[in-house]
Amino acid sequence: MSEPAPHTSLRSLEAAAKNVLPQATFDYIAGGGWDEVTMAANLAAFRTRRLVPRVLVDVSAVTTNTTLLGTPVAAPFGFAPTAMHGMVHPEGELVGARVMADLGMPFALSTLSNQSMEAVADAAPGGLRWFQLYVNIDRGVARSHVERAAAAGYRAIVVTVDVPGDGLRPRDLRNGFKPVGRYGNLESGVDYDTPLADLLDGLIDGALTWSDIDEIRSWSDLPVVIKGIVSPADAVLAVEHGAAGVWVSNHGGRQLDRAISSLDALGPVVAAVGDRAEVYLDSGVRDGVDVVTALACGARAVFLGRPFLYALAAGGEAGLHAAASSLALETAKAMALLGTPRIEDIGPHHLAGA
Ligand code: GLV
Repeated sequence: MSEPAPHTSLRSLEAAAKNVLPQATFDYIAGGGWDEVTMAANLAAFRTRRLVPRVLVDVSAVTTNTTLLGTPVAAPFGFAPTAMHGMVHPEGELVGARVMADLGMPFALSTLSNQSMEAVADAAPGGLRWFQLYVNIDRGVARSHVERAAAAGYRAIVVTVDVPGDGLRPRDLRNGFKPVGRYGNLESGVDYDTPLADLLDGLIDGALTWSDIDEIRSWSDLPVVIKGIVSPADAVLAVEHGAAGVWVSNHGGRQLDRAISSLDALGPVVAAVGDRAEVYLDSGVRDGVDVVTALACGARAVFLGRPFLYALAAGGEAGLHAAASSLALETAKAMALLGTPRIEDIGPHHLAGA
């Protein structure tokens, strides 16, 4: 009999990554805005929810399979868009895209990737890939990003809307953090010798408003997901402006400190959106019970950034594979114990006090 694969706890990966990464790089990934109150609240919120399991349900064949915007996936979670994977692996984003494709899980590529979106598509042709758009201050560049993503087989445009400018991140200011490597999607207009915060302020369009979402939608036939929503009123606007997905996020607590935690924001957003769009969440997911909790609160799927970056840093391709597989096994175990053999069985009736 073969040995069962060892279980990887996502929470153990931060310390492992800290051991191998330069301090400034680790701080950039691990850090948040101002006093990091929201960053901590994202984790703490998951610990305040209580689940109500049902028993004597046949859970002999649990499946984590679901769909995202109509595409089948093997788990209700994916790799969140995160900048510069070259910081954690010499092959950069090729590795994450490859691993997630291999596992049948979604991979969202950041505009600020080290590898180009075309190289990432070539590395994982069969995977479900979404392209995250930072709307460049030069509209022609932003439009070309969307057109290139459509041509390279990305299946959705994820417009990040909570970065009208970079958050105030004390760790990065202290370290004078500058970009690592080159941006694969930006051929020109980047001064790599500028601190990242200033660079992003000069790159991302801070004048973006809802009418721009209509313009962005017109650039391709791809569904548009709006990422960085925590207000139900904004969720309604997102749907009214044609969003196929509303992505609840406070950017891992990296933007406005003391903003509401993602999990606390989720319920009201789900109520406001109804069945008019899919709702996703990031910020604070660290284990399979967190995944199931977010789904019970109405998310269709969740995304993880830091834990998967730490897995790449500490264990390379095999490390990420083990981390994502372990999270899928944990999710299946939590589903069995909740009495929900299929993703669509999970609902608000599994939450205490809901
Ligand atoms: C970029 O999106 C960052 O959060 O640093």
